[in-house]
Amino acid sequence: MTRVLRIFGLLALVGIVAVAALFWIGRGSGDIPPASVDFANLDADQRQKLLTRGEWVAHASDCAACHTDPSGGSDLAGGLPMETPMGSIFGTNITPSKDFGIGGWSADDLYRAVAWGVAPGGKNLYPAMPYTSYHQITRADSDALWVWLMDQRAVDKPNKSNDLIFPFNIRPAVALWNALFRPDAEPFQSNDSQLQQGEYLVDVLGHCGECHTPRNLAYALTDDHLAGAVIENAYAPDLRPDALARRGWTQDDMVAFLHRGLSPQGVMTFGMFPVLSHSTSHLSNDDLTAMTAYLTAGHTMPGPQVRAPTDALSREGQLLYTGLCAGCHGDEGAGQPNSSVRLDVNTTAMYANPLNLIRVISEGIPERDLAQGERMQAMPAFGAMLSDQQIAQLVNYLRQRWGGRPGDVTAEAVGSAIEKRHTTQ
Ligand code: HEC
Ligand code: HEC
Ligand code: HEC
Repeated sequence: MTRVLRIFGLLALVGIVAVAALFWIGRGSGDIPPASVDFANLDADQRQKLLTRGEWVAHASDCAACHTDPSGGSDLAGGLPMETPMGSIFGTNITPSKDFGIGGWSADDLYRAVAWGVAPGGKNLYPAMPYTSYHQITRADSDALWVWLMDQRAVDKPNKSNDLIFPFNIRPAVALWNALFRPDAEPFQSNDSQLQQGEYLVDVLGHCGECHTPRNLAYALTDDHLAGAVIENAYAPDLRPDALARRGWTQDDMVAFLHRGLSPQGVMTFGMFPVLSHSTSHLSNDDLTAMTAYLTAGHTMPGPQVRAPTDALSREGQLLYTGLCAGCHGDEGAGQPNSSVRLDVNTTAMYANPLNLIRVISEGIPERDLAQGERMQAMPAFGAMLSDQQIAQLVNYLRQRWGGRPGDVTAEAVGSAIEKRHTTQ
């Protein structure tokens, strides 16, 4: 769907529901659960426990990913632009700076912002801040997070203003959106079982669905929980148990993937990479085991298996692969430890949506550090060297040879997946 259509759809939707929604405004944002501790009378031991838990909450909920400028800047001082169909929204300064951050906020204020999307003075936050996912955060975790945030270094850095198109630049209009799409559930109550701990980490703190769940025309998450979605021009795949089993995941491999960014099924790329560096690489083995137990619940996970080709492979695709890729990834796609990844059991060619495969081949991946000391060499960019037709042949070759997918990707689909590819050298 084009951007214009999407926006018209959105406008229509907002118009139709506006009247009905007016009756709902303000619902639920008033009563918040009481503070979990008496902040005025904390002893050193209690305070230390809160700091430890607060740091864990900050990692598990990935606050730094959106509140830190990736082009260089202090942690939590803001500046990351998020591209949405409505324009750019900037993560804000959430250090305890009194003038530019949240230094003047109370623990109640933080809970209201994180769980309800409402800042002091009744200012509605845009749902690019994932409060619909955080909605069920426990008051105790929000309080620990507040103690930890207030203990961080204050950075006096002003916020950037958002660059949104009309009517999304009218902040109070978010109240309508909240009336329709913000959940109205009680804070999460866990019986401390591994599955529930995993659910809390994946769905509430980890907000994995913000990328992996499809959105509707109004940019709200749909009920197709974790069914896969395109976000910021990359495909965040289907994470439902049967899809994970089909792509050859095991629970252990997924723990490794979330811990160090790499497993036989592939390496972290695009929007998943910041999740590794700011969040999952800091979590314990128990946390990651709980998350993957929840994600794979009730399914047998057969593990990686090299598939038989789906069809006769094209000669052009074979020649391109042998000439350009096999030197690093191997004729049989076995990869080389510490320098290139396996492609024979790699999930990137298994997605119905070829977007990530097209982009990796075209744009390459810079040399980088993953986590736990794991390093990756660069994958060269082939966009300037290959035509859309040749990229399509390569994509189809990988899909058919190892992905269990049809070779139905056209040169046009490649062209539209990549913008301005041939204009830069
Ligand atoms: C996916 C990106 C993302 C994540 C993750 C995220 N935020 Fe935000 N946050 C934003 C954006 C974008 C805004 C600005 C929204 C706006 O302008 O309305 C924001 C706004 C805020 C505000 C309001 C600040 C102000 O001055 O009004 C607070 C407080 C906040 N976030 C705290 C947090 C905390 C704490 C976490 C972790 C639990 C977190 N955020 C995680 C994107 C994110
Ligand atoms: C110079 C060595 C080299 C060459 C040549 C090369 N690659 Fe790669 N490739 C890599 C490395 C290294 C990575 C992992 C980079 C990272 O994650 O930081 C990678 C990653 C990938 C990925 C991403 C896998 C994932 O798990 O997300 C795909 C797909 C891929 N390569 C396909 C190809 C194709 C197709 C070709 C030929 C057109 C090719 N590569 C040529 C080194 C190479
Ligand atoms: C900012 C967007 C974003 C968030 C948040 C996010 N993901 Fe992802 N995820 C992606 C993208 C894009 C990919 C595809 C690229 C890759 O494999 O690294 C991906 C890939 C994955 C994969 C690999 C699946 C496969 O078969 O290749 C797993 C597993 C995964 N994510 C789990 C999670 C979990 C668990 C969370 C929450 C803790 C999460 N993701 C949060 C964007 C995101």
